[in-house]
Amino acid sequence: MNPEAQRCVRSLIPAHAPRNPSGRAFAPSNIALCKYWGKRNEALKLPLTGSLSVSLGKLGSQVSIHLADQDSFQLNGEEVPPSHKARKRLFAYLDLFRQNAECFQVEAENTIPMGAGLASSASAFAAIAQAVDALYGWELSSEQLSILARMGSGSASRSIYEGFAEWVAGAREDGMDSYAVSIAPVWPEFRIGLLILSQAEKAVGSTEGMRRTRDSSSLFQSWPAQVERDLPAIRNAVLERDFSRLGQHAEQNALSMHATMASAWPPLIYAQPETLAVLHRVHTLRAEGLELYVTMDAGPNVKLLYLAQDREAVRSAFPEVQEVE
Ligand code: PMV
Repeated sequence: MNPEAQRCVRSLIPAHAPRNPSGRAFAPSNIALCKYWGKRNEALKLPLTGSLSVSLGKLGSQVSIHLADQDSFQLNGEEVPPSHKARKRLFAYLDLFRQNAECFQVEAENTIPMGAGLASSASAFAAIAQAVDALYGWELSSEQLSILARMGSGSASRSIYEGFAEWVAGAREDGMDSYAVSIAPVWPEFRIGLLILSQAEKAVGSTEGMRRTRDSSSLFQSWPAQVERDLPAIRNAVLERDFSRLGQHAEQNALSMHATMASAWPPLIYAQPETLAVLHRVHTLRAEGLELYVTMDAGPNVKLLYLAQDREAVRSAFPEVQEVE
């Protein structure tokens, strides 16, 4: 167990046994419009820059945690064996909270379509942090829950909220000022279209990918400056419901992140030929007047950004799109 992470968690949670036999919570998945790429502290999952995301409605994770005689983990109704890396990661995280060697029976259901190319770790750790809070009866604030979720997976800090959330990077070494806040709970016309181009698990995970980019990409030096431009622009665009501004900055931010990844060594190229075909198609449609933008995370799948008024045009260009309100 990591002593730095342990100290941080212990300073947040009251030291008492669980007050309830179980705890349950749902958290939505999220997609960053201004990306988090790069840590300043790996143990505490502290980011180099701030980031901003939108949640994915009903797509997310439902988690129940019961006190039990021994640890167990069921995912979508199936027992996950102790050797599985997801289970090891889950219990290494829960070790941060155990008071008297209590054991947990964890059941998680993902409403994210399996292999949809959407990170389930963001919604999973946000739901686990809230389920643990309910089990122990701590009644932590949203900011404190966001810190706990962050310790599981950085992007999980933003999945505590519905709608648009900003993860403030913070400056403190102990990470107590690095948590997400809600910016706007809704934008009724805002749509995200998921284009699932590949279901393959990514070859290089985000922690290793971030480390490699930071250590070997000279372009990465300009990444914080890119975020400094995009983050306030996207925040204001959300507050003013200025979709064009949001789309431009979100797309440029995603492609800038991918440029830093591609210039790492060994190179990290998450795009597949299908990804590039979609990008070109979007650019053609935009030149024809459609207000359509893209964002992509550390994988080949594309998320389209558009407004409800354009859903028919988007659907006829991309019949396979899965729409999220
Ligand atoms: O939270 P992690 O460690 O899975 O990293 C997420 C990184 C990106 O999805 C690429 C960007 C983001 O801000 O979510």
